[in-house]
Amino acid sequence: MKSFVVVANRLPVDASPGGLVTALEPVARNAGGAWVGWGGTPDEAAEPFDHDGVHIRPVELSAQDVDRYYEGQSNSTIWPLFHDGVEPAVHHREWRVAYEAVNRRFAEAAADVAAEGATVWVHDYQLLLVPGLLRAARPDLRIGFFLHIPFPPVELFMQLPRRTEFVRGLLGADLVGFQQPLAAQNFLRLTAQLLGLHPDGEHVEYEGRTVTARAFPISIDAAEIDALAADPEVLAEAERLRKDLGGDRRLLLLGVDRLDYTKGIDQRIEAYGELLADGTISNDEAVLVQVATPSRMRVAQYQQLRERVEREVGRINGEYGDVGRVPLHYLFQSRTRAELVALYLAADIMLVTPLRDGMNLVAKEYVAARRDHGGALVLSEFTGAAAELTDAFLVNPYDVDDVKRGITAAIAAAPDDLTARMRRMRERVLEHDVARWAREFLDALT
Ligand code: ADP
Ligand code: G6P
Repeated sequence: MKSFVVVANRLPVDASPGGLVTALEPVARNAGGAWVGWGGTPDEAAEPFDHDGVHIRPVELSAQDVDRYYEGQSNSTIWPLFHDGVEPAVHHREWRVAYEAVNRRFAEAAADVAAEGATVWVHDYQLLLVPGLLRAARPDLRIGFFLHIPFPPVELFMQLPRRTEFVRGLLGADLVGFQQPLAAQNFLRLTAQLLGLHPDGEHVEYEGRTVTARAFPISIDAAEIDALAADPEVLAEAERLRKDLGGDRRLLLLGVDRLDYTKGIDQRIEAYGELLADGTISNDEAVLVQVATPSRMRVAQYQQLRERVEREVGRINGEYGDVGRVPLHYLFQSRTRAELVALYLAADIMLVTPLRDGMNLVAKEYVAARRDHGGALVLSEFTGAAAELTDAFLVNPYDVDDVKRGITAAIAAAPDDLTARMRRMRERVLEHDVARWAREFLDALT
């Protein structure tokens, strides 16, 4: 039995990268509690075990669960709807049924490992019903919930079938955390609209309890990135990358994302292609490296995105490349954290252009890596990170001209200006790191 329990769809032990595990892993390691989650492989039975001081309690998902709960309701219904509907959300009754059944299994596993009066912290859109299910089984617990992705505007949320049940699910928590203040307000408005509750400031009374909804913008383990950026091997790798890509004569632009349609990867590549086409930059002067981790590859929209991106990469390299030198390197691969930091250090301009993103940790990692105060960040206005990294070159990713303007402004900026911007952004990220985020959330909860 543990007095602190994290509940998330993923466990911190599989190789699939993403913001949730990156952020939570150091938090759980320090707290030394239990972590309830799925191991990432269908039909895999696993016994509880200990990993890095965390007690791991795997939840088993059948192939059908993966199909309906994970790829279906979580990633084809809720994910697109909560990201502004940038791809149409798909709705199926049997996905909702599976989602509830799997949420119930997570709640049961959490109830099973949580000690009397324990603090249980539930995470993200795959588990919206867990706080309510857990509250019903274990009224003694302190229950927190954090949503890592955006919470949609009220009008969009209203499209979700069985929407009231999701709101009730979240109201099972004592504290519901969001990335942005507006998201917390949207949620509170929905409690009034759908349940006739009377929110007062950040609080709302529900079934005899007070539920608080507030923004807690997430962050990274900045000290870890900072330390990697000082590692001689990482520095040597950054040097090698620059040399291989053309040395100081060639400006290095970089994108690092999960291959996801919310990330604005095609918009970014389109802007870069236009800069080559109109002669603003040439293959001799610049190169773009795009690292895209395979993600949710059995979901149709992700396969279509992959095809679109690969076609466009081929077109651009075919049109503007030369023997032995191409303007765009596309890596459909995952990289270690050390390799990512080497890329961050090598890059003159980091391109982070999501159409919508709860936070975007890549932007913060880039900033944390630049101990040299070098580099420039081109950042979408529609990321949570934009609220904090106001010294980035902010762009509207829907407007190709604006993305091009952001890139050319970063290219043309005076070195002093870039250094001052990076210094301020770094101060912000180093101070507001993930440990502080977790402390603030858990202090408010307990
Ligand atoms: P999301 O959570 O939507 O994937 P974030 O930018 O918030 O987006 O977090 C992504 C995390 O995954 C970051 O920690 C980043 O370093 C990591 N990541 C992204 N792309 C790769 C990659 N190609 N290889 C390894 N890690 C990656
Ligand atoms: C985002 C979500 C996480 C998710 C991650 C990777 O960060 O907020 O909940 O774990 O993407 O996606 P995946 O589907 O591979 O878990």
